[in-house]
Amino acid sequence: MDPIINAVLKPKSIAVIGASTKPEKIGYKVVENLKKSGYQGAVYPINLEADEIMGYKCYPNIKDVPYVIDAAVVTVPAKIVPKVVQEAGEKGVKGLSIITSGFSEVGDHALEDEVVRIAHEFGMRIIGPNIIGVLSNSDQMNASFANFLPLNGKAALVSQSGALLIAMDAATYTRRVGFDKMISIGNQADLEVADLIAYLNEDENTTCITLYIEGLKNGARFMEEARKCTKPIIALKAGTSAHGAAAAASHTGSLAGSAKVYEAAFEQCGVSQAQDLNDMFDTTLALSLQPMMKGDNLLIITNGGGVGVLATDAAEKYGLPLKFAPEELQAELRKHMPSFGSAKNPVDITGGAGLEGYYECIKYAYPHTWVDGMAVLYCETAVTDPQEIAEAIYNAIQESGDFSKPVTVSFVGGDRCEAAMRWLIEHDIPTYNAPDLAIKALTTLRKQEQMLQTAHNRPYKPTDVDPAKAREIIAAARAKGRDALTEVDAKNVFRAYGLPVTATELATSEEEAVRMAAELGFPVVMKIVSPDILHKSDAGAVKVNIKDEQGVRDAWKVIMENSLKYKADAEIDGIAVQEMAPWATEVIVGSVNDATFGPTLMFGLGGIFVEVMKDVTFKVAPIDIATAMDMQSEIKSAKILQGARGELPRDQKALANVLAHYSYMVYDLNDEIAESDANPVIVYEDGKGVMVVDARIILTKK
Ligand code: COA
Repeated sequence: MDPIINAVLKPKSIAVIGASTKPEKIGYKVVENLKKSGYQGAVYPINLEADEIMGYKCYPNIKDVPYVIDAAVVTVPAKIVPKVVQEAGEKGVKGLSIITSGFSEVGDHALEDEVVRIAHEFGMRIIGPNIIGVLSNSDQMNASFANFLPLNGKAALVSQSGALLIAMDAATYTRRVGFDKMISIGNQADLEVADLIAYLNEDENTTCITLYIEGLKNGARFMEEARKCTKPIIALKAGTSAHGAAAAASHTGSLAGSAKVYEAAFEQCGVSQAQDLNDMFDTTLALSLQPMMKGDNLLIITNGGGVGVLATDAAEKYGLPLKFAPEELQAELRKHMPSFGSAKNPVDITGGAGLEGYYECIKYAYPHTWVDGMAVLYCETAVTDPQEIAEAIYNAIQESGDFSKPVTVSFVGGDRCEAAMRWLIEHDIPTYNAPDLAIKALTTLRKQEQMLQTAHNRPYKPTDVDPAKAREIIAAARAKGRDALTEVDAKNVFRAYGLPVTATELATSEEEAVRMAAELGFPVVMKIVSPDILHKSDAGAVKVNIKDEQGVRDAWKVIMENSLKYKADAEIDGIAVQEMAPWATEVIVGSVNDATFGPTLMFGLGGIFVEVMKDVTFKVAPIDIATAMDMQSEIKSAKILQGARGELPRDQKALANVLAHYSYMVYDLNDEIAESDANPVIVYEDGKGVMVVDARIILTKK
């Protein structure tokens, strides 16, 4: 655990620089909140004139305090911040929470940089600026201007929005979702989300990390820390629409980045993405209180057929379709329900079931080896008392002695149900007012387990690559002043990274083209090679299926003529003569550099699938073979690769190999490749491989 970050988040002593005597001021609120929350450490208000605030002795300057100070909360106006940070550094303060606004979020990057520079000079770390502060139940510390500590619990919230943090703080009491910590990180001038994930992963009071993110500073670091984190992480990413992204930019100065890339990155590093605030609370409740779900066997126990059906639908919708319970388990459960009940799954103990039915069924089923997770549903009835049912559920789980698998509960009913639900949550059982929410929570616990299993240990570095060769080709193109590679050069770069490309020769004369075509074997394809003509087909500078020498000669003339018609002063290297790959299923592989996450890989089927249906999927590079297989099943048209309408399956293994190698290429050459694609890539029948037919690489600006 980083001792400096620990000093900011768990200080033994705090100075409030800009503490005020006026109750309407933020500098007053922070001191008041520290007192009200029962903070046990020393508090030193720093105010130019006051002698004492709320019983704490005041000092005009932090350097006048004769004691050691761990952290300082800064509440003076922006222009004074560099001065007080300097003084805090000279005093030996370890870290700062800077509440003050008026930095990069309003465009003043210089002031923000200056503050960070001064802090680093003294080895201090900063949370903020532009924050609410830090709240921690386990430290009885409300070092913020939010009114009170959140409902006590096991989650930790890291929020880029201060106002949202205050709102969520209050909502923890109505939503009954408990948090130990709430940390406002604002502009992330110094400490960023990744640092807090690393810290909270080691924090003994945190079981689940909840993030509200508008934009990350460094996507790669975020992914690295999230991958290392052994606790579940749930993120609500705001700014996914174009207008939302613009709003985020003016709110915390964040670059919102592409929503699709965020989605991919979250999945790749094991972060669950919340759809909205409700989802964020609901998921946090389950992730903070329950263990992960280690297998796919979900058992539902209900007293109502209707909610049972709704839950069954939800299970399928969220990717965990129900299976019938094994016969032996069913036989035992049948003993505790009327003859018209059902023990299959959902287990319907029927509307007449009382607490004994619930108790006996849960006590037997919950620890059963077949069951990986359980949802208990209850509809309020005239013959049962919700509180008694709640206690029966709790007791059955407690007495089963098994706490290794998740359980969620849904109560549907009125006020009596509300009270019983609260009681269950207080006893660490996530309880929801709708069956689909209980199921969704369980499926998230399952997905978290799967993501944590796959998100870890996925370094990918193929060995059959020759980066030096690729860089040589790129350097030669740059030396000619080019900002894009010709197809021939791009293919040679691809080849250096182990990608199968069609045999391609560059002919600088008609005679050379004739000889090369004969060597390659007919039929051949001929294409202009010019840095000025990237869209070769549009220029009429591509001829396919050339069958003989005369064809080569004719193509040479037409391609040259058309190219010069297209751009009279085009710089022309020659004409590429290529083997003609037989046609099969066409796919596209491409890359762009994302502002937040760096090189990303795009994959989809060619033609209308990509152009009309936009049926593509993204990943942050590099990806391994398993992820490359996942990408192929993520697209809507996945069945075409798997062998649709009687066709044989395509060579998905070879394609996965291409995707993984391609992703490594764009990752490794990130400083050189701004954008690239292999379009089309032809995928043959299983076992017959893949061939890249065309290649394009746009270089980064240097
Ligand atoms: N050392 C110590 N105290 C100093 C000081 C110094 N060098 N310079 C000024 N102060 C004192 C002031 O005298 C004042 O105390 P007083 O009220 O007893 O006179 C106190 O610091 C605050 O300064 P003031 O000039 O009154 O500022 P303010 O309280 O109106 O505003 C901020 C200060 C930080 C609250 C304001 O600039 C700000 O950024 N507000 C937005 C914060 C926010 O919303 N953050 C979260 C976004 S989600």
